[in-house]
Amino acid sequence: MTILIKNGTIVTAQGSSQADVLVDGETIAAILAPGERTLGVDLAASVDRVIDATGKYVVPGGIDGHTHMEMPFGGTVASDSFETGTRAAAWGGTTTIIDFAVQKQGERVQDCLAEWHRKADGNCAIDYGFHQVVGGVDADSLKAMDELVDEGVTTFKLFMAYPGVFLSSDGQILQAMQQASGNGAMIMMHAENGSAIDVLVAQALAEGKTDPKYHSLTRPWETEAEATNRAIMLARMTGAPLYIVHMSAKQAVNVLQAHKDEGWNVFGETCPQYLYLSLEDQLSQPGFEGAKWVCSTPLRSKAEEHQEELWRYLRTNDLSVISTDHCPFCFKEQKEMGVGDFSKIPNGIGSVEHRMDLIYQGVVDGRISLQRWVELCSTTPARMFGLYGRKGDIRPGFDADIVIYDPAGRTEIGYHKTHHMNMDHSAWEGVVIDGHVDTVLSRGKVVIDDNEYHGAKGDGVFLKRGLSQYLI
Ligand code: URP
Ligand code: ZN
Ligand code: ZN
Repeated sequence: MTILIKNGTIVTAQGSSQADVLVDGETIAAILAPGERTLGVDLAASVDRVIDATGKYVVPGGIDGHTHMEMPFGGTVASDSFETGTRAAAWGGTTTIIDFAVQKQGERVQDCLAEWHRKADGNCAIDYGFHQVVGGVDADSLKAMDELVDEGVTTFKLFMAYPGVFLSSDGQILQAMQQASGNGAMIMMHAENGSAIDVLVAQALAEGKTDPKYHSLTRPWETEAEATNRAIMLARMTGAPLYIVHMSAKQAVNVLQAHKDEGWNVFGETCPQYLYLSLEDQLSQPGFEGAKWVCSTPLRSKAEEHQEELWRYLRTNDLSVISTDHCPFCFKEQKEMGVGDFSKIPNGIGSVEHRMDLIYQGVVDGRISLQRWVELCSTTPARMFGLYGRKGDIRPGFDADIVIYDPAGRTEIGYHKTHHMNMDHSAWEGVVIDGHVDTVLSRGKVVIDDNEYHGAKGDGVFLKRGLSQYLI
């Protein structure tokens, strides 16, 4: 199949230009500037399909580097399967996800990764890779990290939270970082002081504070900033690069910035929920409603003014990536597990479908540039996670993962409107975006067009990833 995308404005991390894109099979064959549009032949007549992108942006498909499809967590399982979650991602202009395979203490890392392959294989609408959670750092799992790097799983997530479930001690973290510094992998860190949080949670519950808002009030910014500093200090001892996931506290990013400025190889990720949602407006809604927004790190107080600072850190590249941390749970029966005890609410928000739109709104609102939108949502994740060369840019030879985005369009987010995730509610109900994902190509196949899905499960393949381009 050959496709010519005509008359659009190509937007990449480097800049914007009026040019056409020729797709041949699964890859981009050529970028044709106005003067060379014909290549000596009537291209429009000779290709299988012409897409007119007049007035629209032609951008690389989104890469969501942080998702949890069908992950067992908090006594239940995240409600999107690889099939439903990746299809929803495609609707929203995301053409690659990197999901977290999970290992817990006592399990073989290789078996856990095999289980994630089994769940995803043949089911995904878009391409996918895996990070590996190492919940039990020991001699075997350290050795397994080397094996996984050879298999294209080059990033490992550790937890400083959830004692007894995922938490690694400082010594275990140090050992995993030493291993990573030897094999070129990158450590991703859930940076919250889990032991302190557990004490605050027990004290709140003992005082009868059981509502969802106490999830945030028992995870104050100090728990994130302290853990961020500790994680970076440990990484400094080993020389391993470090990527802090789902950062929500401005003070934690300030810590990261200070180490970055000293030249250390540390990176920060934030998520749309921390840029738009808050303790006051969402988590504190009456009754049990706030449970919809329980996630960790938590939504923070508007009064503390984190959101403006996070946008600023995105502009200055102290935060380098925007992912969703898509971890959906239904309200009925799943979130409701925490009625009367906020600590039993499964942690997570579903956003995989809306990230490109939500962050585009940041362009409309004048918070980031168009190019930075593409960089944060596609190009840097590709470079960060060893996919650049294939993903994250519009260049000849790259996979034809392309989104045609209409800046004159409008997207109303809501459960009965744009929602395709397997959830019984939307954390983004009623949000309106001044733009619209019109057409999505995933490796050359038009999967979204005219508000219809044209893909199929199994279109997406596993991506064996290389090492991060940000290693030194
Ligand atoms: O609340 C969250 N973030 N759930 C997913 C698990 C994690 O820590 O990323
Ligand atoms: Zn986490
Ligand atoms: Zn996560």
